[in-house]
Amino acid sequence: MKPKVLITRKISESVIANMREYCDVMVWEEEDTPIPREKLENKITEIDGLLCLLTDSVDEELLNKATNLKVISNLAVGYNNINVDVATEKGIVVTNTPDVLTETTADLTFALLMATARRLVEASDFLRAGKWSSWSPMLLTGQDIYGAKIGIIGMGRIGEAVARRAKGFNMEIYYYNRSPKPEVEKELGATYTDLTTLLKESDYVVIMAPYTEETKNLITAEHFKIMKKNAILINTARGGIVNETDLYEALKNGEIWAAGLDVFEEEPVPLDHPLLTLKNVVTLPHIGSASITTRNKMADVAAINLLLVLKGEKPLNPVNNIY
Ligand code: NAP
Ligand code: GLV
Repeated sequence: MKPKVLITRKISESVIANMREYCDVMVWEEEDTPIPREKLENKITEIDGLLCLLTDSVDEELLNKATNLKVISNLAVGYNNINVDVATEKGIVVTNTPDVLTETTADLTFALLMATARRLVEASDFLRAGKWSSWSPMLLTGQDIYGAKIGIIGMGRIGEAVARRAKGFNMEIYYYNRSPKPEVEKELGATYTDLTTLLKESDYVVIMAPYTEETKNLITAEHFKIMKKNAILINTARGGIVNETDLYEALKNGEIWAAGLDVFEEEPVPLDHPLLTLKNVVTLPHIGSASITTRNKMADVAAINLLLVLKGEKPLNPVNNIY
């Protein structure tokens, strides 16, 4: 009998067709919405493999119902939607899709940084609203990027790719991780600092760390107070790393200059969220890795990881240490 697999959203037909050769595949493809929780709870009892998205909460309650499950393959590099400790206790392999999305996410992060610094969204809205009456010396003036100081919190795969882009803009690069990376310092001329120094010195603070118990609420009111008044915060990591209430106050009171956000604590962000009322915030709907090529590569990798585990082999990208 073929192993049973659930894919929680429509992905590329060719990837699904490949999986069908080896598995009995069910796909949740009603519109483009997350699978309802009760459907996921029903299916989890009978499946051997789950290919899920960051919109699916694979928590302890769900895992307790998963009696046959051998692998959870997340179609994302971040896996904070999965309780990896409980999965590990149960001997379930968890995998993710790093590397294939690194450059695409770094492109989006740098694009968001530039759009925020130079007020691109506001400027476009201004023109279309018929407010452009003449060229004016200080109209829609922003912040310089070339030669400015950038501080990267989370100098991992994507952080490094952002730093390489920053180097092309002759930026001075600071970074903060739990552990320094001498090879990155050598390659990019980056300086390792503590969090406080990074926040005090940087014109641009870019968050690229994973969402964990340690990084939850990492940036709060006390941090905005020590940042430069012209500082711009860019978050393409996860919403909960920055305290959104404190960020709103800091932006409103001019403690920092602007923010570019691809991620929010609650997604989709509610339309009455205070941050959406501010002109100095550029917002995106979590599209960091959203190029056609990269999203297809992520689906390929997620499928390969899942199939390898079901065939008793080591996956390409294990998150837990079961092998
Ligand atoms: P990665 O290679 O694992 O890099 C993460 C970096 O964060 C590491 O260098 C790590 O260094 C650092 N870090 C971990 N815990 C930390 C802490 N407590 N304080 C400070 N630094 C810490 O991961 P990646 O591939 O670059 O991806 C990073 C994150 O980006 C993902 O987890 C995901 O949430 C997010 N992401 C978002 C999008 C999007 O669409 N917006 C797309 C892709 C990824 P140390 O271990 O030395 O601390
Ligand atoms: C996207 O947010 C990812 O973690 O891949």
